[in-house]
This record gives sequence, C-alpha cells and structure tokens, in this order.
Amino acid sequence: MPPSSPWCLRALCLLLSASSAFAAIAVTPPASPPAADANVVYSNFLGLSLELSFINYYFGNTTAEIPQPVINYLSTLHAHGSGKPVRIRLGGNSMDSSTYVPNQPDIIEFTDPTANFNDQPVNYGPQLFDVMKGVSSAVGGAQYLIGLSLRQPNNTNIPLLAGDAMKALGDDLDAFLLGNEPDLYSAHGQRPNLKNYTVDDYVGDYSVVFNNLKQTPQGDVLQLDNIAGPTICCFWDLAPVLQSSWLTDYAQQLKYITLQHYPQDNCRGHPSFGVEHYIVHSNTVSLAQWQSPGLQIAAQQKKPVLMDEFNSISCGGVDGISNTFGVAMWTSDYALQMAVQGYAGAYLHARERGVTYNPFDPPDAVAGGAGAWMTNPPFYGMLPVAEALESTNGSRVVDLNIKNSMWDGSQTSAGYAIYDGTSSTVHSLVIFNYKNVSGTTSDYALDPTFIPASNNQITIRYLTAPSVNEKTNIAWGGKTYSGVSDGNAVDATFASSVQDKTMECAGGCSIQVPGPGIAVVFLGGAPNTTVTTNGSSSNGSSATDGSGSTPTRSGDNGAERIGGSIAAALLGAAVLVAMGML
Ligand SMILES: *[C@@H]1O[C@H](CO)[C@@H](O)[C@H](O)[C@H]1NC(C)=O
Ligand SMILES: *[C@@H]1O[C@H](CO)[C@@H](O)[C@H](O)[C@H]1NC(C)=O
Ligand SMILES: *[C@@H]1O[C@H](CO)[C@@H](O)[C@H](O)[C@H]1NC(C)=O
Ligand SMILES: *[C@@H]1O[C@H](CO)[C@@H](O)[C@H](O)[C@H]1NC(C)=O
Ligand SMILES: *[C@@H]1O[C@H](CO)[C@@H](O)[C@H](O)[C@H]1NC(C)=O
Ligand SMILES: *[C@@H]1O[C@H](CO)[C@@H](O)[C@H](O)[C@H]1NC(C)=O
Ligand SMILES: *[C@@H]1O[C@H](CO)[C@@H](O)[C@H](O)[C@H]1NC(C)=O
Ligand SMILES: *[C@@H]1O[C@H](CO)[C@@H](O)[C@H](O)[C@H]1NC(C)=O
Repeated sequence: MPPSSPWCLRALCLLLSASSAFAAIAVTPPASPPAADANVVYSNFLGLSLELSFINYYFGNTTAEIPQPVINYLSTLHAHGSGKPVRIRLGGNSMDSSTYVPNQPDIIEFTDPTANFNDQPVNYGPQLFDVMKGVSSAVGGAQYLIGLSLRQPNNTNIPLLAGDAMKALGDDLDAFLLGNEPDLYSAHGQRPNLKNYTVDDYVGDYSVVFNNLKQTPQGDVLQLDNIAGPTICCFWDLAPVLQSSWLTDYAQQLKYITLQHYPQDNCRGHPSFGVEHYIVHSNTVSLAQWQSPGLQIAAQQKKPVLMDEFNSISCGGVDGISNTFGVAMWTSDYALQMAVQGYAGAYLHARERGVTYNPFDPPDAVAGGAGAWMTNPPFYGMLPVAEALESTNGSRVVDLNIKNSMWDGSQTSAGYAIYDGTSSTVHSLVIFNYKNVSGTTSDYALDPTFIPASNNQITIRYLTAPSVNEKTNIAWGGKTYSGVSDGNAVDATFASSVQDKTMECAGGCSIQVPGPGIAVVFLGGAPNTTVTTNGSSSNGSSATDGSGSTPTRSGDNGAERIGGSIAAALLGAAVLVAMGML
C-alpha cells in the first residue's frame, strides 16, 4: 500500500536509492577476456527443431498454403539474425522410422495409426522439400538439418531421400544427420539381433550408408561434405565415439558433431524436478557441461558441435514446468551457456499441437488449416538470445560468474558478456534476475570498463513476467504474444511489462532488473530490429491465416522506441520493495 503523499514517496525513493546503491550487485569484466580462438557464435544460434510427422501442421501442405503466422515467427527470428539464415532441423524419432516416397504427391501421410505417440511413422513425398524451400524464401532464409535413418543401413530409401533433398533444397541444405539417438537403438528394440548396439556397430553402419551416399540417383551426396553425427542423447559418451575410427575416417565429410539432450524426461509421467530447478544458474552450467570431454576433442579437431534437439523435458514436456516463464528464462540461459561451452548452435524442439514445450502451437485444425496460433513461453526465451548475439563479426560469450553463480546454487543472479567475434568490443550484457518476487527489482552496478568511450548510452530491453510460473503474460521489450493468434507481437498492457530504457552510463551506472526477469543491455546503441517478412512470396495469408491479419507487424519497429514509462514502472515496483517486501 504505497502512501499517497508525494513527500512520503520521495523520501521512500531516496531511502531506496541509498539502500539499493549499497546492495547493487557488481557486474564486472572477467579476469581475462575471451581468447582469440574462443567459440564464435551468431545470432541465429537458437533454431527450431521440428518433428517430421507434424511438419505440415507448421508449414502447410503446399507452397501455396504456408501459414502466415509461422512465417511471422520465423521472420522475427531472422530479423535478429544479422542476416544469417534461421536454423531449422527436420528430424526426430519419426524421421528415423518414416519412408520417403518419391512419387507421392502429398507432403505427408500417416502410415501407422496405432504407433507410439513419441514416434509416428509417415510416408513423405518431394512436396516436403518444395514447402521447406518456400518457407526459407518467405522468411528471408533458412538453413536445414535433415535426418537420415540409420535403422536399416543398407535401405535404398536413404540415398534416394538424400539425393532428392540435396537437389531440391540446394543452398538451404545445411547438413544431413545420419541416425537419430543410436545409443537408444537397443533400448527401443531397433537391433533385435544384437544384445547391445555399440559404438563399433554404429561405426560399421555409418560406413554402409556412407558408401551408398556416393551414388544416389541425383549424384554424389558426400561431395557436399555435410554429413553430421553421432546425434547421441543418453547412454553413450561423445568422447569415445570421437576417439574411435569414426572421426578420422570421415573427417572430410563430417560437417558437424551433433548431440541431443534433455535435462529430464517425462516418458513415464514422473518428472524428477519442477520449475525451481531450471531457475538455478549452476544447474544450467552443469547441464551444458554434459559431454564436455567430447566437446573439447571436437574443438581441438575444429568440428562445430550442434545441440540439434533440446527442450526442458523429453517425451512431450510437463504442464506447469515446460510452459512457464521460468523455463523461458532457462532457455535463454542454457543457450548462452552452450555458447560458452563450445556449441555452434542449438535447436529448440517442437512437436504436435498441445505438447507443452512447443515454442508455439499451430491451430486446432487439420494440418495447415486456419485458426489461432498460440505462442508459448519457450519462444520468448529465443528472443533475448538472438538480439544479444546480434553482430556481423559473430560473438564470443563469457559467463561473468556473478556472485559465483556458476557454482553456488543459492544465487539468484547470473550474467554474461557478449564480446565481438574478432575485436575486444563488448556488444551487450545479459543479466538474469531469478528472484521470483513479483514487483521487485534488483540493482546491478555495471563496471565502467564495459562502456565504450565513443558512446556511453546504453539501451536495456527486458524479458519479464509476474512470476516464474507465468504461462501467458510475458513481455519482451514491452511487447507480448499474449492474446495474439497470428504470431505478431502487440503492446503489452499488463503491469509486469517493462519498456526499453535508454540511459547514460559514462563511468559506469546502476541498472534495475525486475525479478523474475532478464535484461539485455546493449552497449553503444540498440540492435537492428527490422523484420523482413517476405509477404510477396508467403502465399499463405489467403488460405490459412486464421486471423486475416496483414503481414505487416504492428509492433517490432516499436521495439526501437525508447520507453520513458519504465522509470515510473520500476519506481512503482521499488516503492513496494521499500514498503517491506524485501
Ligand atoms: C505461390 O503460389 C503460387 C500459386 O499457388 C505458386 O505457383 C507459387 O509457387 C507460390 N510461391 C511460393 C514462393 O511459394
Ligand atoms: C522474397 O521472395 C521472393 C520470391 O520467392 C525471393 O525472390 C526473394 O529473394 C525473397 N526476399 C527475401 C528477402 O528473402
Ligand atoms: C542389408 O544388410 C543385412 C544385414 O547387414 C543383410 O542381411 C542384407 O542382406 C542386406 N541387404 C541388402 C539388400 O544388401
Ligand atoms: C552396452 O554397452 C555399453 C557401452 O557401449 C555399456 O555401457 C552397457 O552397460 C552395455 N549394456 C548391456 C546391457 O550390456
Ligand atoms: C513464484 O512466485 C509465485 C507468486 O508468488 C508463487 O505462486 C510460485 O509458487 C513461485 N514459484 C516458485 C518456483 O517459487
Ligand atoms: C493437409 O493434408 C492433410 C493430409 O492429407 C489433410 O488431412 C488436411 O486436411 C490438409 N490440410 C488442408 C488445409 O487442406
Ligand atoms: C544493422 O544494420 C545496418 C544496416 O543494415 C548494418 O550496417 C549493421 O551492420 C547492422 N548491425 C548489426 C549489429 O548487425
Ligand atoms: C569486426 O571485426 C573487425 C576486424 O577485426 C574490426 O575491425 C571491427 O571493429 C569489428 N566490429 C566491431 C563492431 O567490433
């Protein structure tokens, strides 16, 4: 209950600024800046992984029916991608179990209505590649990872698919992922003749497929040097795979080392932990160190590593965990932490509508049908990452280990510095305030050495929500997808939303970050935010845009806007703090 007298308010504010200056958490540069050869990542670091069997729910059945909302989502990611294509991976269990049918006119046909929910085989035709190409062109560019099955290594369908995909996708083809989670083959009954499918078996199977890829109806696929693996998730360690003959035998053709990993699963309906686990930074640090001996070998061999599928909880997520703001914050934190640990990119997984970890959901309709799309918390987690990493030279990410948060699980703050890929400039700082006390802020004192001499203005953009359990009222830069059905963010009107703030920071300064919330501090100017939705090629609005909206975004150009109201909003929150909530 803030008192109404202005005098009283002012006194409280004075009190608060005095006490918060005292309590400000120091954000200081690392003891040593990142090495010249440190991992360089780009603003398309976070991409989207799509399960094959539901691809037409996202992309539509034909190039003429690509839903405008999906173009809007992907264009938003692309707009912050420094011109880099959006990363999209098409795969999953269903890719391993499905069949490419070159003369099938339809994009997808389900073939086993009784199949396990987590692995639904389909037959798919070349229309799939046309639609993928259409999406790429409509969003300004996409680069695709495509799964190739390894369940029957000498199956002639594999080279057939690889050849046609190569021909149809052209430059949009990034790499082929050969096999999906081979370390689960035995557990999933894929090699009934073997007691235990081993790394040696895998290496042998790989060579069978490799040889077949030399001669496809469309020519030699291997000459693209774009094969990836081992795409393990669970039971094997990466280091022994890399130390086997596999890496040396295929050094030339192996473009990426790929991994898939979830912090926990819900395959039997019993998650081990809730949101509270995801909002502890040290948990995220140790998660990203999974397979670190293998990551080091890959770095020595100069092979980029991709986390080509991840999300909060495998087997479909858990309501109340996977679809919360806490997990949105975790998505940002984990992505930046993977950049620290040496990953080149990571793909957030999406499945059929209703899966709680989906970044966004297609409508309740037939595949590609009209209706309202829904944006879920994980999508918000992608936005701070894309914007913080925006740099034409790429970025090197450093964990600032604020208050020893990399190791101390009791800390509620974490932070990163985003260095230029080649120069010593720091482009941005990303600060996480995991305090789950709505209406409060924490103060962070930015070290003066972060502030460029040429431009001491900083712009702060916030990802906020009332609590870590929030599912809908989430805002990034004062914009939200809450209540939106077409993938175009609108102005957020709820109280926890915070506008961008621009301020002078010569000689260092103190900034406030709401708890819970993320602040991206842009040093020396705001990032580019122009959305280049390619309306002319999208073709989608006529057939499938449920809301009948125009492709022009009502808002993201507004993200350039400098919010004056943030100070008022934060002050209001600060008064509550002073009134005893601390
Ligand atoms: C747009 O639609 C037309 C007619 O339906 C189709 O011929 C064309 O290939 C489509 N263009 C794209 C880029 O999808
Ligand atoms: C927009 O689509 C057209 C037609 O497909 C394509 O030629 C053009 O390159 C696209 N523009 C962008 C920015 O992707
Ligand atoms: C495929 O491999 C299996 C086992 O490796 C073998 O039994 C079978 O004969 C092979 N089929 C073809 C067509 O090469
Ligand atoms: C299968 O092999 C792995 C090593 O590749 C080993 O760790 C595991 O214990 C084996 N499992 C069985 C059931 O033999
Ligand atoms: C976060 O705060 C909200 C509101 O006070 C509370 O309901 C929720 O249980 C808290 N969540 C956690 C993980 O502490
Ligand atoms: C897309 O194709 C599927 C499978 O053939 C079909 O069930 C669905 O109705 C189609 N969607 C539209 C919008 O026509
Ligand atoms: C922002 O856009 C301008 C103009 O297109 C470009 O010159 C600049 O390099 C971009 N900045 C970043 C960080 O991508
Ligand atoms: C990008 O790299 C070049 C070459 O190292 C450097 O001169 C330039 O300052 C860098 N750009 C930024 C924004 O740091």
